[in-house]
Parts: sequence; structure tokens; C-alpha cells
Amino acid sequence: MSDIALDVHISPEKLLEDLRSDVRQGLTATPKWLSPKWFYDATGSELFEQITELPEYYPTRTERALIEAHALDIAERTDAAILVELGSGSSEKTRLLLEAGTKYGSLHKYVPQDVSPSALEGAIAQISHEFPSLEVQGIVSDFTDTLQNLPADGSRTIAFLGGTLGNLIPDERAVFLADVAEALVEGEFLLLGVGLVVDESVVVPAYDDAAGVTAKFNANVLSVLNGRLGADFDAQKFEHVALWNAEEEWIEMRLRATIPQQVHIADLDLDVSFDEGEELRTEISAKFRRDGIARELADAGFRVDEFWTDPEERFALILARR
Ligand code: SAH
Ligand code: TRP
Repeated sequence: MSDIALDVHISPEKLLEDLRSDVRQGLTATPKWLSPKWFYDATGSELFEQITELPEYYPTRTERALIEAHALDIAERTDAAILVELGSGSSEKTRLLLEAGTKYGSLHKYVPQDVSPSALEGAIAQISHEFPSLEVQGIVSDFTDTLQNLPADGSRTIAFLGGTLGNLIPDERAVFLADVAEALVEGEFLLLGVGLVVDESVVVPAYDDAAGVTAKFNANVLSVLNGRLGADFDAQKFEHVALWNAEEEWIEMRLRATIPQQVHIADLDLDVSFDEGEELRTEISAKFRRDGIARELADAGFRVDEFWTDPEERFALILARR
């Protein structure tokens, strides 16, 4: 029981190498930027779980309600034997899909994939315990470069929830969706959860909450660089910024230097200076419109079978067939 089925498809060495090259590139660029996958060390994954419970953060509970309402329908339509989930995190909402799939009877395997081993370990332990009939096989990897080697001993649905698609920039998104399509065979499914374009007064607080949890989550990426690359960022000298880019229709997360400062990154032998007010871009979270995401899916090789949304049209759960 204490054995956790976890395949590591990205070695810690490769991950560190990716982090080093990303950080060197991003912190020497103008404007400075960091890739969002570095948010998720054990502390980051835990802070994200806290975000999902904030009153301002509507995506998680809205998506959960959609999954709850349509889980049985999804099980029937997909008739999947294997549920693969990309960026699965705590797999909290996924339980509803696992419950419906096992009740319907077709589902026998769950394959959560995430770059965060700590999130996976917790999720796998709990799900193995809750669903003893299910084979659970976790994969530690980066979903932007490791979609090969998915299990193929039965028909598959790939779930990609939480609006994580919106964290990729549009070019990456197109490549990613095409890769997902390529990983599937005709007749298999993608279950995609994305945030929809909503009023700025709703979306901004979701990324800038009153309790300051999102600010902590954002600043945690600096602790990751301190811990992994021997950097000496002082998180106190940065403030959290979340702003709505109306043209691109995405939220931008930044860390703004409150005073001029110099940061040393020992492992890269790199000095980085920040002017007062200079911003480091850490994340985007794109929001979608129905036609736009349907077109992107079609371009990648999917046909939209179902497009479910909540009454306020804040979030969409999309079932797309390869
Ligand atoms: N699906 C969950 C978690 C969303 S948060 C939910 O809906 O609540 C985004 C998740 O994607 C985190 O668990 C993070 O560790 C993971 N992630 C981010 N970038 C990734 C990447 N490039 N490869 C694999 N996992 C990634
Ligand atoms: N996938 C989540 C989203 O776009 C990730 C997220 C939520 C996030 N809150 C955040 C990322 C704050 C960075 C900062 O909604």
C-alpha cells in the first residue's frame, strides 16, 4: 500500500537543466519573464490548493459543478478504459470522473501526469485508497514535451482541467493541442476545462485575492530560484501585480520590484538588476470565447462534441473528439 506507482519521465537533472536555461533566458530578457511551471514546488502546489478554495477564485468550483453535472454523460460518451490527466495537481475534481467511469464500468486505469512529484504522490495515495478497483499510474513529466509513451491498452480520454491551457502562450498552445491530438487515435477524447472571458471586475480579484494567497503563490517562484539555483531574491522587495490585458484577453501576473536592487544567482554566475518599479512577468492566464477555442481545437484535429458552461458563462467544460 505504501508503494506509489510513479514513473519519472523527466529526471531531476533534466528539470534542473531546464530551470537553469529558462531562468538565464528570462532574467536577461527585456522585459524579464519566468515560465509558470516553476511555481509548483511542494509549497507552490500547496498554495495553489489554497487558491482553489478562495471566495474570489471561481474557476475551481465552477468547473467542479460542471464536472459533477456531466460526469456520467462523459463516461457514457467516451466509454474510456483509461483516463489520462495532464497537470493533474491534487486530482481533486477528477474523483468525480473516476467515480462516474467506474460506476459506468468501462474505466480501469487512471494516469495522472504532473511536473510536481509532491502533488502526484498525495493524489495517487488517496485515489488508490478510494478506488481499489482502479489501476493508478502517475507520470512525472512536462506536458509540453512528453506526450509520447501514454498507455495504449484501451481507449483513452485525456483530461486537461483547471484552465491550465490558458497558462500557455498562444504559439505554445497550438503546438500543445496538436501534440495532444497526435497522442490520441481517432475516436478518443479530450476533456478540456477553460476559463471564459468575463468582466474584469470578476476575473481580476480571482488572481489578486484579499487574503493575499495568490500574492504568496506568485512570490513563491522566487523562493524556488533561491532554493534550486542559489539565488538571493528578497521576496519582500517585490509586490504582486495581476492585470487584465483586454486586447489579448488574458490575465498577466507579475512581480514588481518595489526598490532598485541587484540579485545574484550563484548557480548561473549571473547578476540581475531591477530598477524601481521594474516588473518580472511570471504567468498569463488566457480566457477564451466559444468560437475561438472551437477553432483552435478544430485546427489541432478535434471536433467539439459538447460545450458545457455554467449559467454565468464563466467557465467551459469541453468534450472534443479526435
Ligand atoms: N488540474 C488541477 C491543477 C491545476 S494547476 C486543477 O484543475 O485544479 C496547474 C497544474 O499543472 C499544477 O499541478 C502544475 O504542477 C502543473 N503543471 C504546470 N506546468 C506544467 C508542465 N509544463 N508540465 C506538467 N505539469 C505542469
Ligand atoms: N491554471 C490556473 C489559472 O490560470 C493557475 C493559477 C491560478 C495561477 N492562480 C494563479 C497561476 C496565480 C499564477 C498565479 O487559473
